[in-house]
Amino acid sequence: MAIQKEHWGSRLGLILAMAGNAVGLGNFLRFPAQAVQNGGGAFIIPYIVSFVLMGIPLLWIEWSMGRFGGQFGHHSAPGMLKELGKQRWLKYFGIFGIFTNLAIMSYYAYIESWTLGYVWHSISGTFSGMDMHQVSSYFDSYLGTGTGTIINFSEQAILFFLITLALNIWVLSRGVNKGIEMAAKIGMPLLFIFAILLTVRALTLDAGENGAINNASVGLNFLWYPNFDSLYNPKVWLAAAGQVFFTLSVGMGCIQCYAAYLKKNDDIALNSLAAGFTNEFVEIVLGASIIVPIAVSYLGLDWIQANVGFEMGFRTMPTLFQNWGPILATIAGLSWFGLLFFAGVTSSLAMGQPVMAFMEDSFKIKRGASSLILGVLVLLLSAPAVLFYEAGAFGEYDYWAGTFSLVVFALGETIIFVWIFGSNKAWKEINRGADVKIPVFFKFVIKYITPVFLIAVFVGSTIKPLGGEWGNAFYSLVTGEGWPFAPDSLIGMIFNTGVSDKRWFIDGLPTTIFIKDATRLLLLAVFMGVGVAIHIAFKKKTRRKRTR
Ligand code: PHE
Repeated sequence: MAIQKEHWGSRLGLILAMAGNAVGLGNFLRFPAQAVQNGGGAFIIPYIVSFVLMGIPLLWIEWSMGRFGGQFGHHSAPGMLKELGKQRWLKYFGIFGIFTNLAIMSYYAYIESWTLGYVWHSISGTFSGMDMHQVSSYFDSYLGTGTGTIINFSEQAILFFLITLALNIWVLSRGVNKGIEMAAKIGMPLLFIFAILLTVRALTLDAGENGAINNASVGLNFLWYPNFDSLYNPKVWLAAAGQVFFTLSVGMGCIQCYAAYLKKNDDIALNSLAAGFTNEFVEIVLGASIIVPIAVSYLGLDWIQANVGFEMGFRTMPTLFQNWGPILATIAGLSWFGLLFFAGVTSSLAMGQPVMAFMEDSFKIKRGASSLILGVLVLLLSAPAVLFYEAGAFGEYDYWAGTFSLVVFALGETIIFVWIFGSNKAWKEINRGADVKIPVFFKFVIKYITPVFLIAVFVGSTIKPLGGEWGNAFYSLVTGEGWPFAPDSLIGMIFNTGVSDKRWFIDGLPTTIFIKDATRLLLLAVFMGVGVAIHIAFKKKTRRKRTR
């Protein structure tokens, strides 16, 4: 059995690193957009239910799977899964735990780099005096989009991306303790300061002040006034569950990796809750109190509902800050993009570490080398996401790696942990060294409710009907007109539903359909490549064992 070398330096460091892993762009850009698109207060109840019945159990499962695997010297999913049973396929299921992180990092780090670019532009005063239209077109010129060509980029976007990636690789090359933990100890407090600053400013916005048309409370009420009708709407449930996955970083293999650096009897029950609830505080308190209330104050609820999306943080916020005068606008810009940057970095580190750990554990590659290899892999894999951002490659990464894979992996690992490893052993693992007593009720939740919940999410996302209208879809099914799949259901994605012209080339030029299909093939190739690497890694291991 391999001896573990690296560990977290302190409990605070561990919690900050795990919270930093979870707190990311998802909390400040994705959550507000999802909440608004799904009816504000209508979103909150399914979100909280998903958090309790699926999110928390998955945290416990992943933390204990990681700590367990760490005892055998495994710091990434394939090895950890292998230790949970005798079945030879278990390690191959771990492909997800490497592939997802690598692929998400390849597009996530790009958005992260925009935030760095925008910190720079906020400080240097690029946006001063620009109206909303100008700020929005500035964003297009930053990305090189809106030109009608299939390839889009700008020199500065590439430059900031390279800086961001290099920074990530440098931190990762310093190791878990001196790199990741240190980054979290610096980044997380700064993030909190920036976020609290903006929250206070946002919450004190009054109608009439600096051109605001609404009080901040209009946006907040929209988000917080619960709407019970949504309980019957599967569309809202699916969106809420998807957001819980993404924001907690579950179903990816990165929590398991961080947990592998725990010691055998370190607490899991409480530490995981501390990190999980920190994430929720940042998401539903701070994340909900910045972009939506500010935007609603100046632009009104209707405008936000029509225009919300994760680009809104870049396309509109810099103009809105201008209402507060040049000095405050600079501070607000620095705070907003700075907090996004720190949120992003501490998350992308968590995506890189499992990939590196796999190389280190399986191929005995040293940390410096593995971080460089990771850098090259991410650079290569990010090229399509960056260059074909507008043509849809980026969206494919986000769907296949950042949405679909999470559900599959979470469902599989839950079944493996609770049903193959065994629910009694699983429960014991979760509770070993625990500083709090988890109610036994949760043993039942983990064994039955969480898997059923995950199956429902999986089936729901596979056959999601057009417009999320389940009633209409059933009607159409029984009247013989067939099931109308939504373009973003699994089936709809596979068959490019809703696209009438599916040609790859028109007049000799590649279409967006070509870009999308090619991106899928690329992702599939990466997925299989990881499988081959796992195969070789474990072949080598058994041979080494035999000759010993
Ligand atoms: N949880 C992060 C966020 O909210 C995203 C993330 C994905 C982090 C994958 C780590 C791994 O933005």
